[in-house]
Amino acid sequence: MCGIVGYNGALDAKEILLKGLEKLEYRGYDSAGIAVRNEEGVTVFKEKGRIADLRTAVDDDVTATIGIGHTRWATHGVPNKLNAHPHQSASGRFTLVHNGVIENYHLLQKAYLKGIQMQSDTDTEVIVQLVELFANEGLTTVEAFRKTLSLVHGSYALALLDKEDEDTIFVAKNKSPLLVGVGDGFNVVASDAMAMLQVTDQYIELRDKEVVLVHRDRVEITTLDGREIDRKPFKAELDASDIEKGTYPHYMLKEMDEQPGVVRKIIQEYSDVNGELAIDENILTALKEADRLYIIAAGTSYHAGLIGKQFFEKIAGIPVEVHISSEFGYNVPLLSEKPLFIFITQSGETADSRQVLVKIKEMGYPALTITNVPGSTLSREADYTLLLHAGPEIAVASTKAYVAQVAVLALAAYVTAQSTGKDIDFDLKQELAIAANGIQTMVDSKDELEQIAEDYLKIARNAFFIGRNLDYYVSLEGALKLKEISYIQAEGFAGGELKHGTIALIEEGTPVFALVSQEQVALNIRGNVKEVVARGANACIISMEGLEEEGDRLVIPKVHSLLTPLVTVVPLQLISYYAALHRRCDVDKPRNLAKSVTVE
Ligand code: F6R
Repeated sequence: MCGIVGYNGALDAKEILLKGLEKLEYRGYDSAGIAVRNEEGVTVFKEKGRIADLRTAVDDDVTATIGIGHTRWATHGVPNKLNAHPHQSASGRFTLVHNGVIENYHLLQKAYLKGIQMQSDTDTEVIVQLVELFANEGLTTVEAFRKTLSLVHGSYALALLDKEDEDTIFVAKNKSPLLVGVGDGFNVVASDAMAMLQVTDQYIELRDKEVVLVHRDRVEITTLDGREIDRKPFKAELDASDIEKGTYPHYMLKEMDEQPGVVRKIIQEYSDVNGELAIDENILTALKEADRLYIIAAGTSYHAGLIGKQFFEKIAGIPVEVHISSEFGYNVPLLSEKPLFIFITQSGETADSRQVLVKIKEMGYPALTITNVPGSTLSREADYTLLLHAGPEIAVASTKAYVAQVAVLALAAYVTAQSTGKDIDFDLKQELAIAANGIQTMVDSKDELEQIAEDYLKIARNAFFIGRNLDYYVSLEGALKLKEISYIQAEGFAGGELKHGTIALIEEGTPVFALVSQEQVALNIRGNVKEVVARGANACIISMEGLEEEGDRLVIPKVHSLLTPLVTVVPLQLISYYAALHRRCDVDKPRNLAKSVTVE
């Protein structure tokens, strides 16, 4: 949520900052701004809307070699130009961008800033005003910055400019991601290495509550109390082409097309020298030693977690609970004696999940993070990490990361079962390869899926997705995809549950998508379809080869009954995509959302 960039070097900062912000737009896109400093002072450009809108507001004649930038996902204050970052102190000496939430901003404002007329409704402005207050009291900028940080509670990634300092970006972070990139004769700041890959692939990881001075030719890292830290940069293993759309109209379409390759990559990454599926020995031991697994996740990752529970229980015989991360803090269940917590998160930065991780680490429990982002907060702070190897996912709606989560969960459950001597009657490696082919068939069926979107959703106000057993969990995900990118009200339901109330909503023409991939409940779900059709629903049955019947709208290739979620989700993703396109929605950047949800 919110993206930050900074540049201190010899080139004109404006273009580098704008390009960087374009790469961070997935983190928020309701307003954006940059501030650059030259001999004449600091100039701020900001605009409501996208980076493209900001570009038109930037004056080409202003040149500067140091600057900061921000793309916003509003938390405090409506998305408008006034609340867009950067924010400035009363005299204009200090300029700040911030990602995160300052929980005690109101108290700080009352205690220290009574005489200051605030310019915005944001929590951020309090920080920049405090820095100026303490500087006016005689502290140096870095002292004023440190003193301010010692007072604020909450999450922040910050980059600050001082009009009177031509060579420093003052940087700090707590609970929000931030990296410093190093180059030859320049240094940069970014929420995500992707943003500054244009100039460097060398990055220094920052830890919470460190204070960092980013000069043109050196980076000084210190603790909050001023102790110096020496930390070497790492190479960001990102390929610039991974983060380009290429010839695709949308990242989401590209990422859906990448799904067969992602499953094949996972098979490859998790095969040992003998070609057998394998995971790190320490992780395997942790999984085997646990008497119960607690999966913690949000949104799409939560839906993958529900499927993961089935894998661990059915294949490995380990009991599992799945919890929504934002609820877990208030609702800690009675824990077993030897729990292992599994955090599923594509971004590795989700604040709701992180607060659970912090809590369970305080309680002394082990944690495994399954994520797509190596080095992300949840990966660093857990004991173990399993990577998704899905490659960067830029579209806000998660597709390939979800498929990767399901595949990695299946693999972890399978390897655990194998090593505990469980009787397993299938070869997962082979079945995953078959599933990858099944996904390929689905992504190759775009014309048919576009037609389905047209036939069922063109004028729909709402839609239902139903399924039983594993199909139910995929229905939840299908409904989430449709609502987040097309804004059609959609619900996923267990087929048997509709008649207990929700069937009241079915009327003439209501679209109902029914998944039929689970043999043992195929007749039951078909019975549920009959119930809704009898009440006027426009039913679209998506069945699996071997279970199909005349009149089914789409038949997916046959895959192992436990792996159907890898394939059944793909038509639902594509139907949502085309429904959103027909409605002229911004597929990659749906309204009100952001890719990485770093506020609780
Ligand atoms: C929806 C989507 C979200 C995320 C959720 C958790 O397409 O992507 O529902 O799954 O915000 O994010 P992560 O997985 O990064 O923890």
